[in-house]
Amino acid sequence: MKIIHVVGARPNFMKIAPVMQEMANHPNEFEQMLVHTGQHYDAQMSEIFFNELELPRPNINLEVGSGSHAIQTARIMERFESIILDHQPDWIMVPGDVNSTMACTLVASKLGVKVAHLEAGLRSFDRSMPEEINRLVTDQLADLLLTPSRDGDENLLREGIAPKKIHFVGNVMIDTLVRLRPKSEERWPALQANYGLDQFVLATLHRPGNVDEAERLRTLIEALEHIASHCMVLFPVHPRTRQRMAKLGIEPQSANFQLIQPLGYLDFLALQAHARLVLTDSGGVQEETTYLGTPCFTVRPNTERPVTITHGTNQLIQNDREVLVKSILDRLNEVKQEDASQASCPDRWDGCAAARVVDVMRSSDTIG
Ligand code: UD1
Ligand code: UDP
Repeated sequence: MKIIHVVGARPNFMKIAPVMQEMANHPNEFEQMLVHTGQHYDAQMSEIFFNELELPRPNINLEVGSGSHAIQTARIMERFESIILDHQPDWIMVPGDVNSTMACTLVASKLGVKVAHLEAGLRSFDRSMPEEINRLVTDQLADLLLTPSRDGDENLLREGIAPKKIHFVGNVMIDTLVRLRPKSEERWPALQANYGLDQFVLATLHRPGNVDEAERLRTLIEALEHIASHCMVLFPVHPRTRQRMAKLGIEPQSANFQLIQPLGYLDFLALQAHARLVLTDSGGVQEETTYLGTPCFTVRPNTERPVTITHGTNQLIQNDREVLVKSILDRLNEVKQEDASQASCPDRWDGCAAARVVDVMRSSDTIG
């Protein structure tokens, strides 16, 4: 079976890596190619992950770069079409919910190439999020829907997807975490020394709903500044957020509030494991903190990952200065007394999801 894996943005690398590694154990059955759309291109948003995750170099980089949704999607579609025509794969594998996921799905399905969607079925039920549109379109077109949690199966069945296309494989992102956790832990002493860390809050923010609108971004930064007067805040800043802050002239000054470049996976994972608390709007970080048992506040009105709340450490929080400061300071005090690692892990978040993906792909139903 000839398969083209697609990656484009930061969270895609952690999802595809374990699947490619697992398929490489069956060289007679899988001929693999990796296409990078170039949606993310900064070294700290792309290159670093190839080394750290031991992901093969992309066979092709479409180098689409940034643009509006329509421009980026169109560029990916235009460039990916000739790749499909030249290489004639049997399948493409698309992870997650970014523009690259949807654009490549549209191209492949119109050319009669089968699509496997890794991380299918997640729904925030909020169409103001670009990712929700990408999920809906991708799942309608995909031939194989590989879900990370059972709510994904339920959502897909409700939308009329044929049950035989849906396979509950578990969370591939957790495969990467399980594999690299020991290596990441080796980074901890250097991180502690570099950033002067003892007790600290780790923050990541990049959702348009939080960072594109000036007042919402200001509220978040002011809340973090206030929290930093009680506990060190470490904030690796996503390029979208950095750009918005620069444009709005937001420059926090407190020495206890450290704004740094986006980090590699190993460092960021070690920080998630040692943080007293994480404040985020990332999808992947909600999952990783759940696995690690680190308390997590997600600044969003909803989540497409409800198991991180029902089975994990995640809690949704409003983008409101008073609410953020009070909730976070209260939670920091609680954590002092309690063991944070009491959460139970969602089903099949066990480090073996990629093996299940490969079993599904090898099954005669799917191949035939
Ligand atoms: C994208 C995904 C989002 C995902 C996030 C992961 C879509 C619609 N959004 O959001 O779902 O959670 O990636 O991080 O696919 N930029 C750089 N350097 C880069 C990449 C981006 O400077 O390497 C800047 C550009 O100014 C760009 C902006 O960041 O316009 C946003 O990038 P884009 O890929 O469009 O969306 P993200 O916010 O990164
Ligand atoms: N991540 C990272 N460095 C950072 C911030 C996040 O390696 O500075 C990792 C994080 O551990 C997770 C993934 O990036 O594996 C999540 O990606 P992101 O938040 O960009 O996207 P989302 O999951 O929201 O789509």
